[in-house]
Amino acid sequence: MTASIIDGKAYAAGLRERVAREVATLKAEKGLTPGLAVVLVGDDPASQVYVRSKTRQVTEAGMAGFDHKLPGDVPEADVLALVARLNADPAVHGILVQLPLPSHIASSRVIAAIDPAKDVDGLSATNAGRLVQSTGGALDFSVACTPLGCLMLLKDSLGALAGADAVVVGRSVLVGKPMAQLLVREDCTVTVAHSRSRDLPALCRRADILVAAAGRAEMIKGDWIKPGATVIDVGITRITKPDGKQRLIGDVEFEAARMSARAITPVPGGVGPMTIACLLHNTLQAARRSVGLGPAAI
Ligand code: GUN
Repeated sequence: MTASIIDGKAYAAGLRERVAREVATLKAEKGLTPGLAVVLVGDDPASQVYVRSKTRQVTEAGMAGFDHKLPGDVPEADVLALVARLNADPAVHGILVQLPLPSHIASSRVIAAIDPAKDVDGLSATNAGRLVQSTGGALDFSVACTPLGCLMLLKDSLGALAGADAVVVGRSVLVGKPMAQLLVREDCTVTVAHSRSRDLPALCRRADILVAAAGRAEMIKGDWIKPGATVIDVGITRITKPDGKQRLIGDVEFEAARMSARAITPVPGGVGPMTIACLLHNTLQAARRSVGLGPAAI
């Protein structure tokens, strides 16, 4: 079997269009423009690229964007004071503090300072706890954007996920843990594997759904893929080829995995484009909740 390609780029474009339509409706019917504030501390090049891309897509969706760039040596107290101002600003419905932060700033304290109603990253203890405690139905709080995007791609590719054996490789707060919780909510049987797992190949070979979020290039080999599995590759590692050109590769050996899987996300063009599309989605939903509306079904 040669796997079909799960086109995250196309799905994300469709999602952004649906979000833009809902934003236009919200403006016309309620006079409300969803607003997203992005806080970038320092000059990490990857974060700068990411934030520029966010800013452009926020504008294209018809939302208001508020960008705050702070120097790398800014005191933590100044970041906390900015978060407090954004919490109090009625034009701001979503706040994203770009991670990682410089080492002199405790990201846990900054994340804890964000009003959970505006935490469009889903990283606050309140929203992470809501995810653990929720048992199904529409999500009425923000969930971390990358795992939410993975779930949308899985549902689009597979339909119902109930009963599937799902293996998540990676246990990060940003991806692995919320991904596992989302899959439990979809009635999957979920295994969370990580760098200390004893027999990773055997665990992966059980997976009907394999989500690779370990952050190690091509660590998941083609012969670890169960025939007919659906593979979601969250990894993005930038490598320089012998000819000096840069290339992005995922956590899964793509060409070899394609021989066994039924469907697989490519890198780039799979999960990556979903992250910002889901951030727009979360900001729209947060704006709706701020005026007592339920989630838009998009
Ligand atoms: N840095 C890389 N991914 C993310 C993300 O999803 N949210 C935040 N806040 N920072 C990130």
